[in-house]
Amino acid sequence: MRIGILNSGGDCPGLNAVIHGVVGAASKLGWEVIGFRDGFEGLLPPGDYQVIEPEDTVGILKLGGTILGTTNKGHFASKVGEGSKEEIAARVIDKVSRTMKQLEIRALIVVGGDGSMTTAWHLYQAGFPVIGVPKTIDNDLQATAMTFGFDSAVNCVVDAMDRLHTTAVSHKRVMVVETMGRNAGWIALWGGIAGGANVILLPEIEFSLDKVAEHIKEREARGHHSSMVVVAEGARTPCGDLVTQEHGMTSDGTLGGIGIYVAAELEKRTGKDTRACTLGHLQRGGAPTSLDRILGARFGVKAVKLAEEGRFGRMVSYQAYKVGSASIDKAINKLRTVDPQGEIIETARAIGICMGD
Ligand code: F6P
Repeated sequence: MRIGILNSGGDCPGLNAVIHGVVGAASKLGWEVIGFRDGFEGLLPPGDYQVIEPEDTVGILKLGGTILGTTNKGHFASKVGEGSKEEIAARVIDKVSRTMKQLEIRALIVVGGDGSMTTAWHLYQAGFPVIGVPKTIDNDLQATAMTFGFDSAVNCVVDAMDRLHTTAVSHKRVMVVETMGRNAGWIALWGGIAGGANVILLPEIEFSLDKVAEHIKEREARGHHSSMVVVAEGARTPCGDLVTQEHGMTSDGTLGGIGIYVAAELEKRTGKDTRACTLGHLQRGGAPTSLDRILGARFGVKAVKLAEEGRFGRMVSYQAYKVGSASIDKAINKLRTVDPQGEIIETARAIGICMGD
């Protein structure tokens, strides 16, 4: 028996832990694992792949990135923004079929986020034996309480905030920290609470810069001369605009810059020296936290179990501390965003964090 695995979409700490889990569990069953390189692209004939032997996985559990490479571009894009879907071209499906037959792949484990799970679901519906594993630092997939990679990203934010806090205090400044989080503010929310933010701005909650400035001035009046503001990259300006990177660097609407915008506006309104720091891809790089190492390995082992049971079209999911599974289509119809009335927001407000509204 031979199974395949691929990573797709943006990379994320814990991908190698999943590979380790898959190869470990598969080898116990006497199965061979083929790793496709650079996401779904590796499935295109003649196939870009490597056999992953258990020895190849020695020491990779704790490594960031992915030994297989990944891409969020190519022939398999099946989701263009939230909600709008595209069919994968029939000739691409035929090519996948050729590779799968030629290599005699009996199960294909797809490790990815919302876009990749949409592609996985299309392939499953086209008759391929697909199993999904939920990955994204943004933590915005439905049908799982947590994706691996999220905890590592949150830890990166907290580490950065601890550093930025000491310099903010020394200079009596406002420090604006921009996190990733395209459609959902989970990283900003968790990172902000754990890192001691005074203000957190999310895509899910419309904010007023005047209210944020007022909060900072009130803190000033109480003798707190520095303030920490966390903003998710997908938070919209009060005019409803997303801020994207320009200067010719990207043409595909890569987010980035809301932190600089918020910092400039707050400096105007408060008169306080304000600086912005965009954490960007630091949040995606580096070694996974212990939680993501364990989640990744557990998810990988569960994916092989689903393959053994022939439960294709399922995605590994994490609910109430247990690893189970859900139909892949339950994960892709809608993103899992922060509930503005939810308990975590209530907690943030209760401990004095201004949400900008
Ligand atoms: O989806 C995860 C994510 O990290 C988003 O938060 C971010 O907007 C995006 O990936 C950046 O992707 P890229 O690798 O294209 O810069």
